[in-house]
Amino acid sequence: MTTPLHGKTALITGASRGIGKATALALAEKGANIAVNYLQNEGAAQKTAEEIRLKGVKAEIFQCNVGDLDALPALFENVTKTFGSIDILIHNAALGAFKPVHKLKMNQYDLSMNINTKAFLAMVQKVLPGMEAKKEGAILAISSLGSHRYIPNYGAIGISKAALESLIRYLAVELMPKGIRVNGVSGGLVDTDALKAFPFFEIFKQEVVKRTPAGRVATPEDLARVITFLCSPESSWIVGQIVIADGGLSLI
Ligand SMILES: NC(=O)c1ccc[n+]([C@@H]2O[C@H](COP(=O)([O-])OP(=O)(O)OC[C@H]3O[C@@H](n4cnc5c(N)ncnc54)[C@H](OP(=O)(O)O)[C@@H]3O)[C@@H](O)[C@H]2O)c1
Repeated sequence: MTTPLHGKTALITGASRGIGKATALALAEKGANIAVNYLQNEGAAQKTAEEIRLKGVKAEIFQCNVGDLDALPALFENVTKTFGSIDILIHNAALGAFKPVHKLKMNQYDLSMNINTKAFLAMVQKVLPGMEAKKEGAILAISSLGSHRYIPNYGAIGISKAALESLIRYLAVELMPKGIRVNGVSGGLVDTDALKAFPFFEIFKQEVVKRTPAGRVATPEDLARVITFLCSPESSWIVGQIVIADGGLSLI
């Protein structure tokens, strides 16, 4: 029996750890070959690739700071040379300084906007010719609840995610007629290394657990399942949506 994503290639930014890694494994389970992008943690990227290959698909690692727009042409050239094409693009990598917005330095503001938002547009422009030629493709980016509500010290990322969500909607309308589907997935707190960047993260985590109807924070796999669905043919009628997967946190 062929799996739904058999023969497709997915490029996932920040796939060495956390949600990106869980997504890579979930897509591989559905038959996709995976291009594992990472920033600096080569060992973790290699381990992810090895775990992916155990599922019977291809995986290679690609170091690139996706916030460096000058580095993107080489990344896309290498991935395309290795796999032939890119059918699924997932922008998962994100960075940001944790501090009050009014204390942000301009270079800290730019860092989040470049990696979290601008890089997404630049990467979409890179995959477009290939997807347009095939008249199909799935593009997705990961957002967070901080895009539309106040989370202490989270402003740099939250603002960039708000712009990212808007970008998703604009791109979705423009690209759907070409057969290319763009969506987003947003989450509350997810148990990854990123969580530890929050000041007093243990207290913060306990607070979030208390306020979450599901009674826990998310695992990376909770998000990965939703992302995989949105990249699969089963979700073909979902276009330009930011699907919130947060155990009900945002309802309260
Ligand atoms: N964790 C949460 O609570 C949460 C909640 C909602 C949404 N999200 C979103 O989910 C996504 C993933 O978060 P996470 O918690 O899984 O993060 P994480 O565990 O900290 O992992 C970050 C990943 O991104 C890579 N990365 C960072 N900067 C990069 C860059 N400039 N270029 C290429 N790769 C880069 C890292 O590579 P290295 O291993 O090489 O460092 C790593 O693979 C982010 O967009 C985040 O905003 C997270």
